[in-house]
Amino acid sequence: MILYHKFDLGFFPTPLHRLKNLSEKYAPYHIFIKRDDQTGLASGGNKTRKLEYLIREALDNGCDTIITAGAQQSNHCRQTAAACAIAKLECHLLLGGTAPKNYTGNLLLSHLLGAKIHFTGENRKGEDIDRLKQKLELEEKKPFIIPYGGSNLTGALGFVNAMKELKSQLIVQNLKIDFLFFASSSGGTQAGLTLGNDLYNLNMKLIPIGIDKNETHGMSLEETVLNMVNEGKTLLNIKKKYKLSDVKINNDYNEAGYGVITENEKAAIKELAQHEGIILDPVYTGRAFYAMMDYLTKKKIPNNANVLFWHTGGFPANFYYADQLM
Ligand SMILES: Cc1ncc(COP(=O)(O)O)c(C=O)c1O
Repeated sequence: MILYHKFDLGFFPTPLHRLKNLSEKYAPYHIFIKRDDQTGLASGGNKTRKLEYLIREALDNGCDTIITAGAQQSNHCRQTAAACAIAKLECHLLLGGTAPKNYTGNLLLSHLLGAKIHFTGENRKGEDIDRLKQKLELEEKKPFIIPYGGSNLTGALGFVNAMKELKSQLIVQNLKIDFLFFASSSGGTQAGLTLGNDLYNLNMKLIPIGIDKNETHGMSLEETVLNMVNEGKTLLNIKKKYKLSDVKINNDYNEAGYGVITENEKAAIKELAQHEGIILDPVYTGRAFYAMMDYLTKKKIPNNANVLFWHTGGFPANFYYADQLM
């Protein structure tokens, strides 16, 4: 089956375990965590799963160079650089803004991983990719483009497969999850989880937390996710008719804007760190975990529910945002 056709990059299955102290604190809720911060590939994160399929496709197409784009602290770009090192591919990263004097966090790691870094000013979502592709082709390279965030159907397959992995763990642990919280930003994670939830009959209520309130290429994130899901259902032979309401994103927690750290993210990072010894990141998982805490504190979901937080990584960004986390 198509889900087996991938280039191995990570350590799977990632742990699924109960958050004992927080389950006590937020009783009567039972809180669990899926540890994709432990996927490997230069400190872990959700992009390992997407890159296993994207790098496979690049190699199948005979490409020797990868181009992708993101913010300077992009976890996706750092993990792409690591994947390229393993797959022996040249890696070009288009990163928004101008070159900083000192590299730190993900940017430093991307540099150490050998990526060729291009700073692209205002354009942090891959607007300059085609221009770079043409230039590299003139140099006789065979570039493969990985879209912003690794979010297309190929990348999303990583999270369809992740739901298969989760299902096996739930059977072994004799567990049923009612609500799944996670960060959604470029949409590939959400698209894969949505398809996997239906393909494997997990019947979880997905609660994607929107991280970036801006649209990408003139489309809302929900429209982007719906397009990926509709493309994927044909490939995976899922009969369901998807509507925008099936990919609804909660945007109540991103008012401050992308990469702006507020008291909320800070509180969430400290809450998980100081009760469970697990580190979130300030941009994505800190925001999504805060949202989950808010749901539980305000009792927005039924008592006794089993709640799962999908930890999608991002650890290195803490060092870039150190001043704001003190
Ligand atoms: C740590 C982390 N969590 C969540 C996400 C969101 O995933 P997606 O872009 O697939 O929506 C990202 C994306 O960059 C990320 O780096």
